[in-house]
Amino acid sequence: MSLTTVAARRDQSFHLHPSTNLRAVLKDGPLVITRGDGVYVYDDEGNRYLEGMSGLWCASLGFSERRLAEAAYRQMLELPFYHSFAGKVPAISTELAERLIAIAPAGMGKVLFANSGSEANDAAIKLAWYINNALGRPEKKKIISRKRAYHGVTIAAASLTGLAFAQDDFDLPIARILHTETPHYYRGGRPGESEEAFAARLATELEQLILREGPDTIAAFFAEPVMGAGGVIVPPATYFDRVQPILRKYDILFVADEVICGFGRTGNMFGSQTYNLRPDIITLAKALSAGYQPISANLLTNALYDILLAQSDKLGIFGHGYTYSAHPVPAAVALEALKIYEERDIVSQVRQVGPRLLDAIKGYADHPLIGDARGVGLIGAVEVVRDRATKQSFDPKAGVAAYLVRRAQQHGAILRNMPGDNIAFCPPLIITETEIDELMGCFKQALDDTWAMVKEKGLV
Ligand SMILES: Cc1ncc(COP(=O)(O)O)c(C=O)c1O
Repeated sequence: MSLTTVAARRDQSFHLHPSTNLRAVLKDGPLVITRGDGVYVYDDEGNRYLEGMSGLWCASLGFSERRLAEAAYRQMLELPFYHSFAGKVPAISTELAERLIAIAPAGMGKVLFANSGSEANDAAIKLAWYINNALGRPEKKKIISRKRAYHGVTIAAASLTGLAFAQDDFDLPIARILHTETPHYYRGGRPGESEEAFAARLATELEQLILREGPDTIAAFFAEPVMGAGGVIVPPATYFDRVQPILRKYDILFVADEVICGFGRTGNMFGSQTYNLRPDIITLAKALSAGYQPISANLLTNALYDILLAQSDKLGIFGHGYTYSAHPVPAAVALEALKIYEERDIVSQVRQVGPRLLDAIKGYADHPLIGDARGVGLIGAVEVVRDRATKQSFDPKAGVAAYLVRRAQQHGAILRNMPGDNIAFCPPLIITETEIDELMGCFKQALDDTWAMVKEKGLV
């Protein structure tokens, strides 16, 4: 065992693992990853895994892009730290802001940087509150999120998140956060209801919620274009077309959380383009730096900025920001990532290889263990069920989807089991068709193993 390995194993007892079953990791130990190469990562015993989740939906350029490492090194030598408080700013961060606005969906005019997706969503809530105070609307403060949404885990972002694990026993959600239905047709559609009718019903339910609460009390609506951690929920085609006029009608800010969808994932540079969204604020993180450095951003319209400007005249400073907002090293890495996306035409690459992944995923739609198979661009999921006819899930205690993911890992691919027994696929955007075939080959073996296991144990 190498020294690194020894240190990493010891870490098992000192590292409090986030988003992990603490008992299970104590028993089985963590999977200790030591290096990466292209779409693969290696553990401390030399086993290779195709990273079918881009880590945490973020390593869009894989795990060995030297240009990103060199950009960080160059920036460390040039200016390793500077801040953006009190009218100062690192030069590289202004370049990044300019580039982001140039590629952003129409209407975005300013960029506010932070370090994580959770922080960006927190900031978006603060902005919505601040703006309504500035506009003399102190009652217009409630935020509507959606069940199964994932917007992060800081106190406010975890309150937006519509998943029990992020809230149970944390005394969350905080006040003034509401959750409306999730646009998951497979689970939420009523017998005989078309996808279009389902989308229309959800929009009506949203409007009813707004009217019940009072439109003058609702500040903002948060949505991921495609829900990620809630199980890769691809909305019906007309869902956002129905929702957006309602938001406009009641003067409710639309915050598009593009933390996963941003930078090519859905087959356009932004999910907002895939679903024809006109958000007031966009939150970005993850693929902004291809996951190589922690950085996030809020993009906002000039109309919102003008309100902040006027408020600054009144209050003095705009009193928000972190020591590491617009940190030059992650900014340099992000700028290089954006250059790579452009030079390699990452959007076309996704459009080219995406169908290979989605066809393979959808090819499992008739498998006895798969209730639903869906995706867009280079993100997808299959929903594991006990009974396809009734859509009945397995007893969570049986751990069937978790077993499938463990088997996939043994066959050489990292996938993730999301809530509701949804197995997610979100490989690096640089993946080739051959690598997609390999990923889906590992999945097939894992599914075969799982089918054999459930039959043997009499679970079906
Ligand atoms: C859509 C979305 N928003 C926000 C977040 C939170 O980002 P972070 O973990 O960087 O705080 C995530 C993380 O997975 C996410 O998927």
